[in-house]
Parts: sequence; C-alpha cells; structure tokens
Amino acid sequence: MYIDSTRHLQLDRESRGTRYYRNAVERHWDPFDIDLDRDREALVAHLREVDDPEQHFDGMKMGVARFGAGEQAVTEDLAPLAVALDDIDDQMFVTTQLYEEAKHTDHFDRYWREVVHPVEEELGLEQSSPTDPKWFNEPYHDLFERNEEAMYALLDDPTPEDFARAYCHYHLVVEGILAQTGYYGMQQSYGKDTYTELPYLPGLYEGFTLIRQDEGRHVGFGMGKLKELVHEEAVDPGLLDETVNELLPLVNGIAANPEDQYVEDVGISPEELQRFAAEKHVQRMEQIKDAAQDVPDLDSLTELEGVGDD
Ligand SMILES: [Fe+2]
Ligand SMILES: [Fe+2]
Repeated sequence: MYIDSTRHLQLDRESRGTRYYRNAVERHWDPFDIDLDRDREALVAHLREVDDPEQHFDGMKMGVARFGAGEQAVTEDLAPLAVALDDIDDQMFVTTQLYEEAKHTDHFDRYWREVVHPVEEELGLEQSSPTDPKWFNEPYHDLFERNEEAMYALLDDPTPEDFARAYCHYHLVVEGILAQTGYYGMQQSYGKDTYTELPYLPGLYEGFTLIRQDEGRHVGFGMGKLKELVHEEAVDPGLLDETVNELLPLVNGIAANPEDQYVEDVGISPEELQRFAAEKHVQRMEQIKDAAQDVPDLDSLTELEGVGDD
C-alpha cells in the first residue's frame, strides 16, 4: 500500500483516468440484457431462403469467432499495463477496461451459445465451434502474438519506448484500427436498411454499439498516453510510425482480406474496409502528433463513428 501525501484528496477528478473511469461506471451495461430472440428468428428465416446456407452462415460466424477470440486476447493481455502504471487515476481507468474486455468476451461467447447453436440445430446443420482453427488466419495469430509480447515487455522495468510500443499495439492498432474497422464492417453488413442480401441482426448490432462506446474510452486513453509521451519528448514520434506501419499489413490481412476463405461476396467489400482502416490510421496519428489537436472528447470517442445509428 502506498499513501501519496502530496495529494490533498485521493483522486484527481480532472485526470483522464478518473474521468474515463466515471464515464465507464455511468454507462455500465450487461451483455445478458441484450435480446437475441430476433437474431435467431432472422437468421433461420434468412438461411432457409438462400441456396447454400452453410456457406452463407460461415461468413457471419467467422466475424463473430474473430471478435470473440480478439476480446479474449485483449482481456488476457491487459494486466501488465495495470502492473506498470503507478498513478491511482490511471489504475482506476485500467480496472474498468479490464472488466469491459471481459464483458465483451462474455457477449460473444453468449452469442455463439444462444444464437449460432440454436440456429444450427433448427436447420439441421452440424454444430460449429468458435474456437475452430478454420476461422483464424496467419495475420490474425501474428498480430495478437505481437500484441501480447508488447504488453508483457511492460513487466520488466519498462522504458517510455516500451510504453509507447504497448499503446501502439494494443490501443492504437488492435482497438483503434482493427476492431473499429471490424465493427464498421459487421454493423454495415448486419444493420437495418443496409444490405438486403444479409439479414438484419438487431442483437448483434446492439452489442457492437455498446462495445464501441467502451472501446472509445480505451482508444482515447491509449491516444492520450501516446500524446503525452510524444509531447513530453519521452519518445520519438518516428517510433509510433514505425510500430504502426509494421502492423498495418496484418490489419488488412485480417479485416479486409479478399483471400479469406469465408469472406462473402455480399455485404461490404474488402476494398471499402481497407479504405476505412487507412482513414482511421491517418486520423489517429494526426490527433496524436499535432499538438494543436486534442484527443477527441469523451462524447465523440464513444459516439457512433462512421456508422449510421439505427
Ligand atoms: Fe473489447
Ligand atoms: Fe477495448
């Protein structure tokens, strides 16, 4: 236990950490409150209509499997940051992030149990598994292994460069570019009034909306930290470019890969997703490096970015 007597009160209410922590508490949600009945019905009706239901279903299952495994990976790999940070306000925030990543994992696990399996049963299809290696490709494994390494480097007397690399991998690339591109693709594909060839899945859509609110805080925290490191001249901004540029081909290999076995020829195109990922990248880097630009405020970080509200 450590008592910081230079502080008159325990928390700094103006700090990013404690503000984001409060925002997380106020916006709390429970994955089990999401109604999944309509998703089951919509999927059964849709898959009964199409020529090759199995192949059609696989496209959606690949997205859900990758999100589920990704949320699990970030749940498992965040703890080193909590060990490395020593400011109570930062700690307050990281507790919420860890809990939220666990909730996201919970949501995707539930979706497979309560939507995918019952639909398969209803249609007489073989029962599938979200952990089947067939859903994951090389860039996926590679990116998450590198993320884990960058996070675990924080456990051993971390330098400002170690922190910068960790935030670049985890908050900027995995959460800020890969996940946001993935939500965009899934919400475009399974939202209302988008692609008539695909079913509208309101529970999946709602889950993504709630997860994105949480992720807005996560990305904002990482960007805020990177901005501090750059503007206090603790790290060279070139390190950020180098780290992110190395990882971007992996993002495209996951989120926008036309060679992927289960990518459907309906819905959003890989080219559009690549464009979206590149835009996110440029926007994030500008916000971090340009001293005149702030990290977006909480309302805009947590609002629906790039997707029409339903
Ligand atoms: Fe998450
Ligand atoms: Fe996150």
